[in-house]
Amino acid sequence: MPKLWGGRFQKNTDKIVDDFHSSIRFDSRMYKQDIIGSITHAKMLGSCGIIPPQDSELIQKTLFEILSDIDNGQIEFETDAEDIHMNVEKILIERIGDVGKKLHTGRSRNDQVALDIRMYLKSEMDELDSLIVVLLNTIIKLAEENLDTIMPGYTHLQRAQPITFAHHLMAYFQMFRRDVERLYDCYKRTNVMPLGSGALAGTTYPLDRDMVARELGFDSITENSLDGVSDRDFVIELASCLSIIMMHLSRFSEELILWSSYEFGFIEMDDAYSTGSSIMPQKKNPDVAELVRGKAGRVYGSLMSILTVMKSLPLAYNKDMQEDKEGIFDSIDTVKMCLNVFTNMLATIKVKSGNMLKAAQGGFTNATDIADYLVKKGIPFRTAHEIIGKMVLYCIQNDKSIDQLTMDEFKEFSESIQGDIYEEISLKKCVSERKLPGGPARESVQKSIDNARAFVESK
Ligand code: ARG
Repeated sequence: MPKLWGGRFQKNTDKIVDDFHSSIRFDSRMYKQDIIGSITHAKMLGSCGIIPPQDSELIQKTLFEILSDIDNGQIEFETDAEDIHMNVEKILIERIGDVGKKLHTGRSRNDQVALDIRMYLKSEMDELDSLIVVLLNTIIKLAEENLDTIMPGYTHLQRAQPITFAHHLMAYFQMFRRDVERLYDCYKRTNVMPLGSGALAGTTYPLDRDMVARELGFDSITENSLDGVSDRDFVIELASCLSIIMMHLSRFSEELILWSSYEFGFIEMDDAYSTGSSIMPQKKNPDVAELVRGKAGRVYGSLMSILTVMKSLPLAYNKDMQEDKEGIFDSIDTVKMCLNVFTNMLATIKVKSGNMLKAAQGGFTNATDIADYLVKKGIPFRTAHEIIGKMVLYCIQNDKSIDQLTMDEFKEFSESIQGDIYEEISLKKCVSERKLPGGPARESVQKSIDNARAFVESK
């Protein structure tokens, strides 16, 4: 099959080369963006008098027909037509002959692919944004139901201080909120229109670049034709945003996995989001959370791969850059799938608040508060720390929790300890006294939930 660019060649490309460099099997997913971009380009060529208005109209009309034929599954793309851009142009020429050959006036595939990928990523970012907002709403709802559910907070995976489940959940809200903001930021830099950069040096035709940008919903146009065709920063930025989302999902998944173990017993996953074992009849495995955790790996992999493809590439376009697509497409698909399944899984967990409280009662999670109690009685903090350290050791050796000590035992450690100690070191009090902004007390978390609601409602 002769190529659209075949004029200076005496031979066709080897079949093996067609198979090797063709990108149609993965870039065909940009057909809508490619065709809408071409329709707008044709419209602008007509309105600037670069091609006759009736030619522009015929091209636009035929491209719309091609678009609907593809939508309806009536078109099969050809591998030797290389990529989505060539496939569409070839079909156009088959349908309207010489007029179709005018479409590519003042345009190169280099600025065309840059346009298509920007348009494609913009629409995917909108979808990703909505999926995260659903997750944010799920977190808010679960947090609101658990404002008084006391659980141990951890450092080094050792019980540290009492918090509430709501507080823990709202930590994840903050992470995913930043992910939304990061996507917005990435969107801004993706929302710049490159058409008119030509192959690398712009074009002599009097194109109206601003008109194309306006019609396609871009905020502005690229300012340098070399940069316009060789910039893939926005792809890397999105791959990085997606990696961070997966990092957050993997941490949350890991905690759900731990919490659903018999050893923790803080939550139970719904049957619809768990799997069994082919040999062990008793098993209920958190496979969904594990797979989300695992898929972080492939998303990080794509980020690394795109960064490495772009490393050291001389300006302007190089074919290497075709390698940006499979990675970013796979990352987008993976993250969308993970967000969706994860949100549904989270919405259906059963919270075992009794076990959370029991765990918070063990492990001396109120030790800091007892030291603070002594500070209030006038003892310097470092001394108080030492006294309570000894108290904890005594409790471990005598298999007691601190609140089980008698007044006489307390007095052995410090004469400053009085009858109010029992009330002062209750877990409830330890939590409710931490009412600084950002703390786990009910009122602080409620405030954070109110802010969270305002954020999602602004979306
Ligand atoms: N399929 C190519 C890509 O994805 C389109 C641009 C081709 N340009 C070229 N000069 N070979 O990068």
